[in-house]
Amino acid sequence: MTPKTFKIKSFGCQMNVYDGERMAELLSAQGMTAAPEGEDAELVVLNTCHIREKAAEKAYSDVGRLRRDDGSKPVIALAGCVAQAEGAEARRRSPMIDIVVGPQAYHRLPEMVASAARGARPVDTDMPAISKFDAFPQRRRASPSSFLTVQEGCDKFCTYCVVPYTRGAEISRPWGDIVAEAHSLVEGGAREIVLLGQNVNAWTDGERGLAHLIRALAEIDGLERIRYTTSHPMDMNDELIAAHGEVAKLMPYLHLPVQSGSDRILKAMNRGHTAAHYLSLVERIRAARPDLALSGDFIVGFPGETDKDFEATLDLVRAATFASAFSFKYSRRPGTPASAMPGQVAEEAKDERLAALNALLDEQQRAFNAAQVGRTLDVLFEKPGRYPDQVVGRSPYLQAVHVSGTADLIGRIVPVTIQSAAKMSLAGRLENQLEPA
Ligand code: SAH
Ligand code: SF4
Ligand code: F3S
Repeated sequence: MTPKTFKIKSFGCQMNVYDGERMAELLSAQGMTAAPEGEDAELVVLNTCHIREKAAEKAYSDVGRLRRDDGSKPVIALAGCVAQAEGAEARRRSPMIDIVVGPQAYHRLPEMVASAARGARPVDTDMPAISKFDAFPQRRRASPSSFLTVQEGCDKFCTYCVVPYTRGAEISRPWGDIVAEAHSLVEGGAREIVLLGQNVNAWTDGERGLAHLIRALAEIDGLERIRYTTSHPMDMNDELIAAHGEVAKLMPYLHLPVQSGSDRILKAMNRGHTAAHYLSLVERIRAARPDLALSGDFIVGFPGETDKDFEATLDLVRAATFASAFSFKYSRRPGTPASAMPGQVAEEAKDERLAALNALLDEQQRAFNAAQVGRTLDVLFEKPGRYPDQVVGRSPYLQAVHVSGTADLIGRIVPVTIQSAAKMSLAGRLENQLEPA
């Protein structure tokens, strides 16, 4: 019997969140309904991540946990990057999996669910020429801050990374499709759009680049904020840098991963840039937008990394100053060039370096947050907070901001005076709210 209810669980990056929303819309268009929170669904889609070993292993333990107390189980679809990387092998590892569907085959999910209901065990990890985007239904409801994939895949082949294999070659969605989707998101309630791509700043329609697209989207009435992620330093061109100074709706925040501050390691990673190049980019972007909040990704313990290389990473962090960052221990991924490199770093050294790097990054993040106290920031409210009469939104710098207020704030951009700061968030009061007597 074809399942009537579904649940989609997304892990990994924001693109998986976006894909999860689109799969939900696709299944809903087939007459299925999303199972309410806390209830069993007849179909469970695990939208997985393959980026590091832990993330990939989690996919299989999550599958195992779907067996119910009475021994029955839902129809299980393994989607996302683990599905793409492992294909039919995934079902040999876990026979509970009914469907294996890679990120470029989501348009086929409804028919795969139907054939699984007939007892088949479909696997589709093709990267077809036809685009999954064309199969997704029009968008109707949107969050105040919504994702929009404009670019997918990666041709950079950093030597540690699985993404070029799991997401395929770089493709850019057509200009018209993106603008149309942005309009539907805004009509559905979005005030902010986050343009997504594995190398989002490589987006092109053959003539124009991401900066042109951002300028066009900024013309949409009702759309107040634009962000984009993730960028690669080598695709940060002059037009895009200029847009940071000229497009008021483009938020003063940039996630620009650098991975290491050692030129030797950057070369072994095949990043295509040096530490000095990264720092000069940051300087140019800050010249265009002085209040820019910079975010980054770092890998510690890449093969061959010495204490001296790691010191260079700390130096780069001190020179660039990050408002937030993600740092990871190098994880050896099967099939990537770095996994076969000599000089694999011991786990204890990775732990030590990660702790030292995080201590420095935390200090910078706290300082950046503390500097907002006393300022008035425009906050886009997105959801209720954990406590009654609390709402949470985001500052232009992507900091979470908590205020006491009611749910009617959600979807609005309101000035907030910041009163206190912690590592991960700010708290403030509404500008136009009277102080208690
Ligand atoms: N396209 C983006 C991000 C891709 S994955 C970019 O170019 O930066 C997100 C982050 O995961 C990367 O920036 C990197 O810091 C980290 N990462 C990727 N592969 C990894 C690996 N094998 N081990 C540890 N971290 C990894
Ligand atoms: Fe991975 Fe490098 Fe591509 Fe980013 S640019 S997705 S880190 S290969
Ligand atoms: Fe993970 Fe795939 Fe995203 S490996 S980080 S879900 S592109």
